[in-house]
Amino acid sequence: MIKVAPSILSADYINLQKDIELVQNAGAEYLHIDVMDGMFVPAISYGAGWVKAIKPVTNMVLDVHLMVEQPERYVNDFVEAGADIVGVHVEATPHIHRALQMIKDKDAKAEVVINPGTPVSAIEPVLYMVDQVLVMTVNPGFGGQKFLPETIKKIAELDDLKKKMGYDFDIEIDGGVNDQTVVDAYKAGATVAVAGSYVFNDADPAQKVQLLKDVTK
Ligand code: DX5
Ligand code: ZN
Repeated sequence: MIKVAPSILSADYINLQKDIELVQNAGAEYLHIDVMDGMFVPAISYGAGWVKAIKPVTNMVLDVHLMVEQPERYVNDFVEAGADIVGVHVEATPHIHRALQMIKDKDAKAEVVINPGTPVSAIEPVLYMVDQVLVMTVNPGFGGQKFLPETIKKIAELDDLKKKMGYDFDIEIDGGVNDQTVVDAYKAGATVAVAGSYVFNDADPAQKVQLLKDVTK
């Protein structure tokens, strides 16, 4: 059964606590927090202050996805605000190893992220040190986009590498996830599914969380 990480990007910001409680009570293990800087991706979303505000109202794992240029400038702030996992894009820094090491040095879980156009080989040198790999299944920046099926083979490639090398990271998918697209990704080796619009643009978010779990039993 896949772990579910609802993305607050599609939640109701005015009633955020209500949405957080809904998905937590439905059994979501992670809460996915998309940080956008207006440079790495066009939009600006929210910063470490949101993580700090959310931390006391939930016991879900706070899974922070930094869509930020030179994320090493911000990783300490996010860990101090309460992030349990911090994800940094390999495309966003020439210093990916340093960025991941900084997260680990603060005792948070380190995640490396790859865009749809980036091959697994780009992150192979750092796989030994990560707790999670995020395979973007859409181009980052917006909720509500269509799942790119070509990304499935990268999930399978990472799953093979895990077995071959004895690595122990989670494989997360993000973008266009619904009760259909999650199935092949799960079969290929994905262990965590981010879902934004599928969960929150529905009258019954709790049922959507449950459905993602039901179809990956
Ligand atoms: C996109 C973000 C996602 C977004 C996913 O750049 O990283 O986390 O919230 O939204 P959906 O699930 O609607 O594709
Ligand atoms: Zn995300």
